Formats: sequence, C-alpha cells, structure tokens
Amino acid sequence: MTAHAGLPPETQVKGVVLAGGTGTRLHPLTLITNKHLLPIYDRPMVTYAIESLVQAGVTEMMLVTGGTHAGEFLRLLGNGHDWGIERLFYAYQARAGGIAEALGLAERFVGDDRVVVYLADNIFERGIAPSVARFRDQDNGARILLVELEEQEHLRHLGVAEVEQDKVRGIVEKPAQPPSHLAVTGVYFYEPSVFEVVKKLVPSGRGELEITDVNNYYIERSEMEYDVLSGYWGDAGESIEAYYEVNDFVRHHGVNRL
Ligand code: G1P
Repeated sequence: MTAHAGLPPETQVKGVVLAGGTGTRLHPLTLITNKHLLPIYDRPMVTYAIESLVQAGVTEMMLVTGGTHAGEFLRLLGNGHDWGIERLFYAYQARAGGIAEALGLAERFVGDDRVVVYLADNIFERGIAPSVARFRDQDNGARILLVELEEQEHLRHLGVAEVEQDKVRGIVEKPAQPPSHLAVTGVYFYEPSVFEVVKKLVPSGRGELEITDVNNYYIERSEMEYDVLSGYWGDAGESIEAYYEVNDFVRHHGVNRL
C-alpha cells in the first residue's frame, strides 16, 4: 500500500475540451469561423488538445463549443475515432458565459469520474501524461499546470500563481503586479465536486464565471496541487502575435512530444 490511495482503478479521468468563446482578440478572423478551427501549422487548432489528451490515455471526452460554427466541429471530428477518441460527446454553450460555465455543461458526462479540462487554444511542447498520472495518485481536490514566464507584460494577461512546497497558495487573474513568474495554463484537473463549486459562482466584472474562482476555492481548502511544466507553452488565442508565435513554434519544432 502506498501513502496515497489515489483513484480506484474503475474511476476514469475524462476529458473536457473547451472550444467556445467569441474569439474577439482574433477578430476579424473569428467573425467567419471559430477560433479553435483556425489553422496551427497544418491542422485545426482543436486537434492539438485532442492529440495531447489521447496521448495521455484520456480517450473519453466531451467537446464544448458555441456560436455559429459549431457544426464544423462535427465535420472535422465526427465520432472521434479517426483522432484516437473512444467516445466523443458534444455540448453546446448557448452564450459566452465563461470557462467555468462551459465546464458546468459537462456535469452529467463526467458523473462520478474525474475530469481534465483543456482550453483548446493552449499548445504545449511536452505531453501532459505525467500530470494525468500524478492527478490519478492525488487523494482529492484539483491540480493545475504552471509554466515559468519571464515577461511581466505577458503575465499581466494571464492567471499568475503563488506556490509553497507542493501546494498552490493563490492565483491572481490578470494582475497589474504579477506576484510571481508562474503563469497558469489552460489545463485543469478536478474531482467531481467541481460541479457543485461551479453552481455557487457569481459572474465576474466581465460577466463570466471564472475558472480562477473555481481554482481559488480548492486553494483555500489546501486541495490544489500543481506541476511546473518544462518546454514551450503558448495560448494561441491571446492575440494575433501569440497566434503567429505558436504557429511558428509548431512548424519548426513540433509539439505534444512524449
Ligand atoms: C484563461 C484563464 C487564465 C489562464 C489562461 C491560459 O484566460 O482565465 O487564468 O492563464 O486562460 O490560457 P482567458 O484566455 O480567458 O483570458
């Protein structure tokens, strides 16, 4: 017996791929398609998140999208089998109510299992399999993936975390004065209690249910663990510059490397 009981073998880690939003930071490109269908090098953006999850053994997933181009995801992914997905479910987000609201749509899909939430504009050089394994070994709570970024200006556009030993002490969303160099990426792991947390959220100043509020709930209970990832990370939806930076990286180096 190990000190950490972890998950019983029958409990799955399911994937929720978030591919909604209005993509205003990439207008006018996103007036005619969904941001997550825009190309990254030689294929649509959303397929990198799917590849990353499948590589990590997460093969049962739900794609949440919205807006006027939702049907294109079915055309691209179908039942998911060609992309290595065992069972693919879809949910439609009727309005742009935020990341946490989109996650809430996956409640019945996740059921009593655990979930890894993946923002489909996040591109990682390295695979997430080691983090999925560590999350399976975790007794309860949540887990986030952090990357070290030097640039203060970049940090001001993201969630920034403060950590102490193996626990996260706090996350500040889009801080004017970043409290550290640890950026919060768009991959989050939760036990099924997350759906009760989502129901209690109140909309933020931008009128959305914020994933950072969900994360801070677990942080307050000392139930948030983290990994600091090595290798490149980019959020291709952050700006047109970030979109091209991610494209260049993928083209020259490849991503989702094991
Ligand atoms: C969201 C999160 C933020 C995180 C970022 C990563 O920001 O709120 O904490 O750093 O994703 O991509 P948004 O893209 O909604 O501004």
